[in-house]
Amino acid sequence: MTYLITGGAGYIGAHVVRAMTRAGERVVVLDDLSTGVRDRLPQDVAFVAGSYLDRELLDRTIAAHGVTGVVHLAAKKQVGESVEVPLRYYHDNVHGLQVLLQAVVAGGVRRFVFSSSAAVYGMPDVDLVTEDTPCVPLSPYGETKLAGEWLVRAAGRAHGLQTACLRYFNVAGAAAPELADTGVYNLVPLVFEAVSEGRAPRVFGDDYPTPDGTCVRDYIHVADLADAHLAAARLLAGRGAAAAGRDVTVNIGRGRGASVREMVDLIAEVTGHQGPPAEVTARRAGDPARVVASAERAAAELGWRATHDVRDMVTSAWEGWCLRRPGAAEATA
Ligand code: WQD
Repeated sequence: MTYLITGGAGYIGAHVVRAMTRAGERVVVLDDLSTGVRDRLPQDVAFVAGSYLDRELLDRTIAAHGVTGVVHLAAKKQVGESVEVPLRYYHDNVHGLQVLLQAVVAGGVRRFVFSSSAAVYGMPDVDLVTEDTPCVPLSPYGETKLAGEWLVRAAGRAHGLQTACLRYFNVAGAAAPELADTGVYNLVPLVFEAVSEGRAPRVFGDDYPTPDGTCVRDYIHVADLADAHLAAARLLAGRGAAAAGRDVTVNIGRGRGASVREMVDLIAEVTGHQGPPAEVTARRAGDPARVVASAERAAAELGWRATHDVRDMVTSAWEGWCLRRPGAAEATA
């Protein structure tokens, strides 16, 4: 088996490449380095610079490397940005996926793992989100991920692919400091940025119907997330021709929630932040009070469960933050 990993030089991609290569899987990475970083990848990993939107490049890469499976991670993924430029999100995340699937079918590739998102659920009004919870995405980003799942499953049924759609919950942490997320778009890095600059972290609303009034999310360590991709790839590889056309769609979360307040307090403890206390601001539009995964289907179908807790995530993310920002640790002490 050789897996083509699109977006493999990204934050999550580099962790998936690390997990799969360490497990002995052969991979080739395709990344246009628009947000990916080549140095995140070991030098001995096959790398192709370019876009999954380039059909000719896809055909050449699939043939030249004997690709038999795809892990599709490359996408545009900022919820806020997707509201501003929805057509770019639909072009890259849906049209681009269509181009990739056409190359997959034409190239005789039979296994496809797709990076989906908890964003497909929108504002689920349940204690634990199962894969049968209605999908009502609230952002163009979430819509493109749900439409992507439809495309993947339809292509799987029509062309005998074996597919897996992994719905990521809130990803954080790093398996090694040099692999830490370089984006500052989500809670943990945004709070790191505030405490590093001596500013008050912002809590977007504390009047939600939750135990401490702040939003509750299911944080998943990126190393656990990467292992889930390895488990999915092996599941699809292990199935015989009888499984052609079958899909497995699973939540990738811990099955446990943590509130914004809990995360902000944990970050203060881990970073030694002595600056101003968190400032509660107005709610952020579109934020559900609680989004926590049921992780039972991933355990049953993939034989996978998360192993890291939020302290592991915050500690490892902070080590990566400080690696790129010498002096950050001193600034918060
Ligand atoms: C988390 C909570 C904010 C910043 C993300 C991705 C989405 C999907 C799921 C992958 C919210 C609060 C944040 C801050 C705050 N992942 N917050 N102050 O919105 O749950 O969704 O994970 O596909 O694509 O966007 O994550 O980190 O933006 O926010 O109070 O400075 O933290 O209101 O309740 P979100 P987030």
